[in-house]
This record gives sequence, structure tokens and C-alpha cells, in this order.
Amino acid sequence: MGTVGIAMLGSGFIGEFHALGLRYVRDARLTVNADADPARRAAFAERFGSRPVATIEEACGDPDVDLVIVSLPNHLHREAVLAAAAAGKGVACTKPLGRNADEAADMLRAVAGAGTFGAYLENIVWNPDILRVRDMVASGAIGRVTTFRAREGHSGPHAAHFWNAELAGGGALLDMASHGIEVGRFLFGKDLAPREVLAWGDTLVHGDRTTGEDNAIMVVRFADGRAATCDVSWSSKGGLEGRFEVYGDAGRIIEDLGAGSMRAFIERPAGYLVEKADVETGWVFPQPDEVRIHGHDLMMADIVEAFRDGRAPGETLADGYVVNAILDAAYASMRSGRWEPVVLDEALLAGGA
Ligand SMILES: NC(=O)c1ccc[n+]([C@@H]2O[C@H](COP(=O)([O-])OP(=O)(O)OC[C@H]3O[C@@H](n4cnc5c(N)ncnc54)[C@H](O)[C@@H]3O)[C@@H](O)[C@H]2O)c1
Repeated sequence: MGTVGIAMLGSGFIGEFHALGLRYVRDARLTVNADADPARRAAFAERFGSRPVATIEEACGDPDVDLVIVSLPNHLHREAVLAAAAAGKGVACTKPLGRNADEAADMLRAVAGAGTFGAYLENIVWNPDILRVRDMVASGAIGRVTTFRAREGHSGPHAAHFWNAELAGGGALLDMASHGIEVGRFLFGKDLAPREVLAWGDTLVHGDRTTGEDNAIMVVRFADGRAATCDVSWSSKGGLEGRFEVYGDAGRIIEDLGAGSMRAFIERPAGYLVEKADVETGWVFPQPDEVRIHGHDLMMADIVEAFRDGRAPGETLADGYVVNAILDAAYASMRSGRWEPVVLDEALLAGGA
């Protein structure tokens, strides 16, 4: 295959990151972008040189499209992945894959049934620092990994669909711990089965905006008794937090994605500084290239190469399904106050989607 023609479904916040992540990918061409909002799709098309269309179906059916990238709100992921598979196109979907594991399972089945390509767009595992952490862990530098801890937070999402917990499928836990869980699996090794989850969540700050939890903590226990903790917040002030800590019996590694090397004191706004900066002046911490730091460059290179070369991507739809199953157990635990089992369809996973 020569050039891979790409459709971007969704021309909003993450659609822009995904489009920028394609900038250094050889043999990829953003041919079509879809968005229900006419002004947004026109502005995106103008910026990235793609052809704007209004609907998921138009984009998936376009002959210039080989690979569909789903950058839509959570409630549209299933519909979009199924539409891409039905049109015979490859598809890559942002996190969380589904609003729950049932939706994610439908997506796996549709792609496997169509015999097409599927990938999960979990960008944090493609952050260059996290890749280095993984390599150090794999080299045995910290001995046997015992526990993992993720802390992710910001002061609240930028779009209404996140705040509608019924539509989105959950609150801060679904939105943010989807990253931490997958980073944990990436560092422990994905063969280690998650067994049960204990979780707490509550609406501590944003009760006027959402019925979903705006703060949550969850512990995942794996088959051999080791554990990962994710601690998330939608009411954390002072910019995006993303800290990932891995502990072994011979050391520990601490990664803080928000701690760049630049700081500035500014009395006048300089425009965009960093995701969810909260302030425009005073001491600020601009990030030089969030697309790279957040892992989008390497993630996009991987999915385009995997699609073109007919191999599995680094992050598969099955990974997204397992993350959803862990989150389902977390929400069940939040309701019951007890450890809840992670229910996985082993036959579905054995299908190799
Ligand atoms: N990987 C990450 O770090 C990360 C960060 C932010 C968001 N996300 C994920 O990306 C998804 C989208 O979030 P976002 O922040 O880009 O939201 P957004 O609101 O900024 O963008 C979503 C876009 O989808 C468009 N849209 C809505 N309904 C549509 C429809 N029926 N057909 C076509 N277009 C439609 C909207 O007009 C909007 O432009 C969510 O699932 C979210 O979890 C991932």
C-alpha cells in the first residue's frame, strides 16, 4: 500500500491533537474530516488541508479513506467504529474505547467480523518518558514490580458532553483513569490478568454541573496479588497533572508528565500555554510540544505503520476492552462499597482483535 488516506471523525480538541500527531508520519494523508458543527469542520479542513463532511457515514464511505480515526465524544465511539468496519475501513478509536465493556466488545466483534484493522488510541503509553520507564522496568532495573500508582487531574473538562455522566458513561474515573489503568498494564505486562477492583468516587465540587464523580480513587488487584492505584480529579487547580510511579523490590521510578523544564513569569498573556493551564499570567509552565509529550507522534506513527504493514498495533482494541472491563468493575465497586470482580470474555480476547 502507498499513501494511507485518513478520515478524522471529530474536529474538536483531540481531533486536533491526532491530526498534529500525523505531521511527521510518512505515507499518511489526512483526506477527510467530519464534524457535525459546520464552523468547526470548515476551520479544521482549512488548517489541515482535508475535505470537510458532516457525518460519520460520509467519511467512512469516502473512497479516499483507508483508515478512520475516531475523535468523537464517548457516546459515538461504538457507532463510529461499527460504521468504519461496515465500510471495510481500518479504524482507530480514542479512549475510553466504550462507555462500558459491552460497547467495547461490540466494537471488537465488528472489526473481527469485517476482517479489518482496529487500534486503540491510548497516547500516554507512547510518551517518550513512559517508554523509557517501560524499558528500565523491562531491563530489571527496579527488580520485580510490586505496585504502580497514577495521579491524574485537572480543573474540569472543556466540553459539555464530558459533564453529562449519563451520556458519557461516567465521570472523572472513566475519563482519566482509562489512561492510568493502561499505563499500569503496560508496565506490569499485559499478560497479567486484572482480577478485582475496589473504588471510591464522589461529586465533591461540581454538583451543579454533573451527576458523575469528579474525584475518585481505585485499586486494581491482579491475578498474582500485585496492585495498581489510580487517583483522579476534575477539581485539581493549577494545570494538567499526570504522575506515574512504579515501585519494585529493587527501586522505584517516578514520572511527572507535567514537569517540563520551562517556567516563566509573565504579566501579559502569551496565548495558549499548556492544556488546562487555569491561569494566563504570573508563574506559568508552558510545554514546548504537547503533541510529542502526550505521545501522539509515536502513537500515530505506530497505527499508520501497523495498518500499512498488516501487523497488530501497539495498543489494540482488546486493550481498550480490558480497560473498560476494569472500569466497569470500579463503578460496580463504587456502588457496592466492596471489591468487585473484573469480568472478561476470554473467548472474545482469544479472537485476537
Ligand atoms: N487522549 C486524550 O488525552 C484525550 C483528551 C481529550 C479527549 N479525549 C477523548 O476524545 C473524545 C472527544 O473529546 P474532545 O475533547 O475532542 O471533545 P470536543 O467536544 O472538543 O470534540 C468533539 C467533536 O465532535 C463533534 N461531534 C459531536 N457529535 C458529532 C456527530 N454526531 N458527528 C460528527 N461530529 C460530531 C463536535 O462538534 C466536536 O467538534 C472523547 O472520547 C475523549 O475521551 C482523549
